[in-house]
Amino acid sequence: MKARLMKEILIGRRTLACRLVSAMLALGIVGAGGTVNAADAAAAATPAKVTLSPETLAKGSELFVKNCIMCHDRGMEHPGTAALTYLYGKDKGALEDRDNLTPDFVRFFVRHGRGLMPGFRTGELNDAELKVLAEYLSAGPHPAVPAK
Ligand code: HEC
Repeated sequence: MKARLMKEILIGRRTLACRLVSAMLALGIVGAGGTVNAADAAAAATPAKVTLSPETLAKGSELFVKNCIMCHDRGMEHPGTAALTYLYGKDKGALEDRDNLTPDFVRFFVRHGRGLMPGFRTGELNDAELKVLAEYLSAGPHPAVPAK
């Protein structure tokens, strides 16, 4: 009984490992020869950074302050920051401190919401605004916004 269970677990793990390698192959992380190219792996793990114009940065920051900062400002008193600190760890809770956000990821969360976070409709934040906001957050980390 025990041996059969072990076997099933091992087979299950192998299937998982196999799927993982297939996925890595598809992503180009593992080369055809099966060797991992460190530079490729690093590139795949780090989203490409775009340089934004000062206008986009200013507009993105403005949209963030207007729509998101009440929940995502630095400090555990903000529910978004508290939830993300719990998920990702100390100093990784504030969205403006993140260096691993991508525009698609931000857009998805903003349109759909999650947990305590409401989804934003186009009437609240239109597609053009969301594009700028998503680009702004993806270009982080950003310095702290001066308090008003
Ligand atoms: C009412 C509070 C609230 C507002 C307003 C809010 N959020 Fe959130 N947000 C949260 C909470 C709470 C979470 C964690 C949700 C969870 O995973 O349960 C979250 C999660 C996220 C995440 C997921 C991050 C990750 O890596 O998991 C993104 C991205 C995000 N918010 C972006 C935004 C943006 C951009 C805005 C402004 C347009 C915004 N949020 C407005 C509360 C809020």
